[in-house]
Amino acid sequence: ALPQDLTGVDVLISAGGTREALDPVRYLGNHSSGKQGYALARVAAQRGARVTLVSGAVSDPGDPAAVDVVHIDSADELSREMHARAPQADVVIMAAAVADFRPVDVAGAKIKKGEQGPAPIELTTNPDILASLVTARSEGTIPATTAIVGFAAETGDAEGGVLDHGRAKLRRKGCDLLVVNAVGDGRAFGTTDNTGWVLAADGAETGLPYGSKTLMASRILDEVVSLVPDRKGR
Ligand code: C5P
Repeated sequence: ALPQDLTGVDVLISAGGTREALDPVRYLGNHSSGKQGYALARVAAQRGARVTLVSGAVSDPGDPAAVDVVHIDSADELSREMHARAPQADVVIMAAAVADFRPVDVAGAKIKKGEQGPAPIELTTNPDILASLVTARSEGTIPATTAIVGFAAETGDAEGGVLDHGRAKLRRKGCDLLVVNAVGDGRAFGTTDNTGWVLAADGAETGLPYGSKTLMASRILDEVVSLVPDRKGR
């Protein structure tokens, strides 16, 4: 049996990828599988948390058991759901792959091929939801006791600056924990290498073992538990 160390704790998790509409049938999206965020939701619930999962597009459909799931498409919808729910959460984890850009115009009807060939797609920048949650906390909309956790996927290895990039991102975003995943070339997946680190705003750095996303979720939640004030009768 898992430790019940998140009993009574409200955990809000985003997962999956956003889809930014071009017209009623097309979108710009990404390859996020949603697996890490879903694993976090499942394990947090197994450890006693009340979990709300705000899910974008994922590769394996099917809501995890014992978790409230809210489905969204766009970064704008994700932002609205997270800001509406974060004030009631003790822990907010932004595991979603949020599109950095969205089309300026969403056509009301399917875009035609046209005679001129493809028209360029003009993009605008999506707001950084993680950073905006931190701002809302500093402004008092979200309680000061709510822990905020971000993710970063960085290419390279420790020597190649992944940790330095992670440390800079942690400061830039202002969250309490940043889960840094080393991704891309040069990574020996399938070995016992570290797959990442949990960086804390207080300077603590914890290596994550190579393993399943469930194991990763357990280790990440171990760090989250240490942030949650012991005021829930645990
Ligand atoms: O800056 P970068 O995209 O690497 O940051 C990743 C982290 O920021 C993730 O936690 C992701 O969910 C979050 N993010 C966000 N809003 C964006 C882009 C990323 O909340 N527009």
